[in-house]
Amino acid sequence: MTLFDALGLKDPFPYIEKETYTRYQQIWRELCQGKLKRSFKLEFQKKFDSTLYEDEFYSDKYPRILENSIKLLQTVGWRNNPYDKQHWGNWLHSLSPYQGRMTPSLAHWLIKIFSKKGDVVLDPFMGVGTVPLEADFLQRKAIGVDLNIYGYVVAKGKFERKPLDYYLNYLKEIEDIDKSEIDISDIADWIQAYFHPETLKEIVFLNEKLIAEKEYFLLGCLMGILHGNRPGYLSVWTGCIIPMTPRPANHPEYRPDKDKPEYRAVIPRMAAKIMRMYSTGFPLETNARIMHGDARDLNLKDDSVDVIICSPPYYNTLDYVGQNRVRLYFLGLNKKKQDILRQELIQDSKSYLANMVDVGKELRRVLKDGSLIVFVLGDVHRTKYSINTADEVSTIYFEKLGLEELMIVNDEIPLNKVVSRSKRKKFDRILVLRNVK
Ligand SMILES: C[S@@+](CC[C@H](N)C(=O)[O-])C[C@H]1O[C@@H](n2cnc3c(N)ncnc32)[C@H](O)[C@@H]1O
Repeated sequence: MTLFDALGLKDPFPYIEKETYTRYQQIWRELCQGKLKRSFKLEFQKKFDSTLYEDEFYSDKYPRILENSIKLLQTVGWRNNPYDKQHWGNWLHSLSPYQGRMTPSLAHWLIKIFSKKGDVVLDPFMGVGTVPLEADFLQRKAIGVDLNIYGYVVAKGKFERKPLDYYLNYLKEIEDIDKSEIDISDIADWIQAYFHPETLKEIVFLNEKLIAEKEYFLLGCLMGILHGNRPGYLSVWTGCIIPMTPRPANHPEYRPDKDKPEYRAVIPRMAAKIMRMYSTGFPLETNARIMHGDARDLNLKDDSVDVIICSPPYYNTLDYVGQNRVRLYFLGLNKKKQDILRQELIQDSKSYLANMVDVGKELRRVLKDGSLIVFVLGDVHRTKYSINTADEVSTIYFEKLGLEELMIVNDEIPLNKVVSRSKRKKFDRILVLRNVK
């Protein structure tokens, strides 16, 4: 009996015609029907384009401290074609969304300019692993750490490199498992509101299996399609980054076409997602280290890191827990546990600078003497004033830790990339500090 029979669903592909990924879905259908061989090659599964990652900018001719670095940052970098394209970079970066994610092209350029091949590059606030992934492609030894379990799972998934047909066959085998006993009665009501009950049963079954078997890449794919506003997602119509609460049937502005959960078969959507992730190809080998941990207490040896590149949280501008509440729920964190995580993360305004000093102490310890810390920090805008976080962190790091500021590069964010409606100019400030032991 197949999973679909067990769930009383005759056609495993009832919504395929509505899909945007029809090509991928078709391949999946043929695979299920035994028309494709186990070891098939997808014609769109391109070879990894390593030429993108070969140029070296860092050299003794460009010592890290020279003004040349500033010029490079401002002239050749990520604001120019092709790096300014919205989807520049490898598809793996889009495994699952994260608000506040660094753009892959910025990570790419910072790594290129401030490190060389073979360097140990640490991101102690890696989120979904943008810096480690680019660092790994650029042949650095990448280390990524984050305290948010959702970020950790997705980042870890980006480094779990198995051949594509392993994953597709994994999904294919699930069809033969009898899951008639799947019970969703203990799933919280606020989660149930997002999904058709039959979809939810499939999600619960797959999620538990993937967690038990530590299949991080597949778990990342599942997190990536959990909720959104297109047919490839599993939920009712909601945001793919932030899951706005679904409108109940008695809501005055209830929209049946968007708010009524419809059945969305999980397995074909997973297959499409996987194929998309593989469409830009990547090397199967990696020596990155991805850790779940706290930037204030790193499980790393003294003097073991060549450069730190990251975007730390800044004040309480983003809530990394609330925005990921649905995904965190499936990773085992109910609302109560999510509140605990929120307390643990560096988010609170009042304790922000004190926490960042604790981080700074730890970064000094693991970083080699004379090496660099590169922070990308945004300004914080209040109604009547703005805080230049980079200036504040730089001042306190000098006063309390003796770290030396080398430069702050003000990178104006083009208006079409600014989310807020305010007319104030928006900047990413790239703060470069040198470790002095
Ligand atoms: C601006 S985001 C980083 C995004 C990341 N650059 C990316 O591209 O996904 C800041 C991150 O810091 C993490 N964070 C907050 N407090 C932390 C702590 N004490 N230790 C480690 N990570 C922490 C948050 O979970 C969040 O993922």
